[in-house]
Amino acid sequence: MRAIFIPAVAAGIACMLQAWTLSAAAASPQHPQADIQRGRYLVRITGCNDCHTPGYPESNGRTPEKEWLTGSPLGWRGPWGTTYASNLRLVMNNMSEAQWLKHARVEWRPPMPWFNLQGMNDADLRAIYRYVRHLGPAGKPAPVYVPPEREPAQPYVQFPAPPK
Ligand code: HEC
Repeated sequence: MRAIFIPAVAAGIACMLQAWTLSAAAASPQHPQADIQRGRYLVRITGCNDCHTPGYPESNGRTPEKEWLTGSPLGWRGPWGTTYASNLRLVMNNMSEAQWLKHARVEWRPPMPWFNLQGMNDADLRAIYRYVRHLGPAGKPAPVYVPPEREPAQPYVQFPAPPK
């Protein structure tokens, strides 16, 4: 009796485990290497480096990967004040993946295209997070925001007031 019962229970558990593994795989991909590659691809084609990597556009996109997303000292000045593209390597290193999903959907000041990030699905945002965490922390924080009435200390790009 016992000899029959145990294999039956074991088979039942094995079946449940298999179903659980399959559904977990569908909900959140368990392929870290694939996520990292996808994150790298997304960062490259969605333009994050254009502002968040120092000297990236000037280098025609040839800045070494180890410097990617380390933040930029170039200011962006307009009616909103002067903003600096943050060091995302440090920002993401200091938060959990769940915190990142919320943080990525905040409305930032111009010229950060937050509206593009809001259009990304969770899987893409997770892939970006896993890629940036894989790169690891590097660099120092970008300069702090300067309010409109103050002249920034470093070079900046001047934007006109938006059309009415
Ligand atoms: C046109 C320049 C530009 C591009 C392109 C850009 N950003 Fe930004 N980003 C900025 C600036 C400037 C800030 C600072 C905004 C502020 O101070 O409110 C910023 C801030 C952020 C923040 C807030 C970080 C913090 O300090 O907590 C995140 C997250 C972010 N960007 C992610 C991205 C990602 C991911 C991409 C690529 C999809 C991207 N950005 C593309 C300019 C840019």
